[in-house]
Amino acid sequence: MSVNVGIIGCGGIAHFHIRGYKQAQAQIICVADNDEARAKSLAQELGCNWTTDYRKLLEDPRIECVSICTPNYLHREHAEAALAAGKHVLCEKTMTTNLEDAAALLEAVRKSRRLFQIGYMKRFVPAACKAKELVPRLGKLLSGVVRVYHPMSKEGLESAGGDFWLLNPSKGGGGVLVHSGSHMLDLMRFLAGDPIAVDAKTHFYKGIIDYYDTAYFQMAGDFTMFFESGWLDLPNLGVRDNGWDERIELTGEHGRLELFTMWWTRPDTEEPFVRFYSADDRTVYKYHPEIRDCFVEEVKAFVNAVKSGGPVSPDAYDGYMVQAIIDAVYKSGAQGRRIEIERLEQP
Ligand SMILES: NC(=O)c1ccc[n+]([C@@H]2O[C@H](COP(=O)([O-])OP(=O)(O)OC[C@H]3O[C@@H](n4cnc5c(N)ncnc54)[C@H](O)[C@@H]3O)[C@@H](O)[C@H]2O)c1
Repeated sequence: MSVNVGIIGCGGIAHFHIRGYKQAQAQIICVADNDEARAKSLAQELGCNWTTDYRKLLEDPRIECVSICTPNYLHREHAEAALAAGKHVLCEKTMTTNLEDAAALLEAVRKSRRLFQIGYMKRFVPAACKAKELVPRLGKLLSGVVRVYHPMSKEGLESAGGDFWLLNPSKGGGGVLVHSGSHMLDLMRFLAGDPIAVDAKTHFYKGIIDYYDTAYFQMAGDFTMFFESGWLDLPNLGVRDNGWDERIELTGEHGRLELFTMWWTRPDTEEPFVRFYSADDRTVYKYHPEIRDCFVEEVKAFVNAVKSGGPVSPDAYDGYMVQAIIDAVYKSGAQGRRIEIERLEQP
């Protein structure tokens, strides 16, 4: 049984979703983009319908599910419309650009009884799955470090606040914390549970966009995580000397786990890996799981959930929680004090 799909937003990330739908043998029926040339050219490539009005796509009764690949400030509008039209949704991260919209969208998902998966695809990196499997062997967690450095040119930062949505916080929702940090906040929750409060320092370029943030999270399990996200001109940092430094380190009573994640544009060639030190047998284990494209895995999981009736993971609650953490970090940085994370009840 093939699943029928619509794609809203035909830019960069849509191509990663399409790779997944092809491998899942799903049928792309229609693509939508308000830029006619983009919609038309992608439709020609795929041999499907196109429209500049996403509502038309949603009216097509053949379409069961949609990928929302538009800029962050449009996610709520597009996702709510899709759910109202009875479609299942795979929504790119971040869920929205602010906590109020995220709470409203979570509510809409709960009322709709449709599936809503959020695009934190790094959970599908085989090394992240291996890390998840190993966490219980650490025993009680004592502390952790989460770091994400991505290279960002001075010219990039100079253009902040302008036309490019990603570098305009009113459309993207923020800077490095949102665009690079959100994935690692999701992985932090995936592996170590939820934070309950945060003390943060945020650093803004020309008062417009955050390019470096640090945060101490008090975690629900009564331990501390140190988090750092940076768009820095330090081009040779990281385990591959390429300026992409993403890692999570967790220390527990029985050992230490280190997860080195990947360069997201090269999921087919980069090799995320895990190091695990077990105090029980005084041994360091190194795991190099096979390379798999986490975007393909993400989309395949979504298609399978649509076929079987769910559930999905990460879901709307996970999307909301990352948004709540981002919101708390910005508030803490602005107010110079500890902020509680606004958790909602998990159904
Ligand atoms: N998972 C990841 O690692 C990852 C990586 C990159 C981007 N993303 C996310 O994917 C989303 C899109 O990012 P991108 O890099 O593809 O951006 P992009 O700018 O390349 O593409 C966005 C597309 O949306 C279209 N669009 C804008 N307004 C629209 C509207 N009203 N109706 C229909 N289409 C509209 C634009 O014309 C453009 O083609 C964002 O939410 C971003 O955060 C995720």
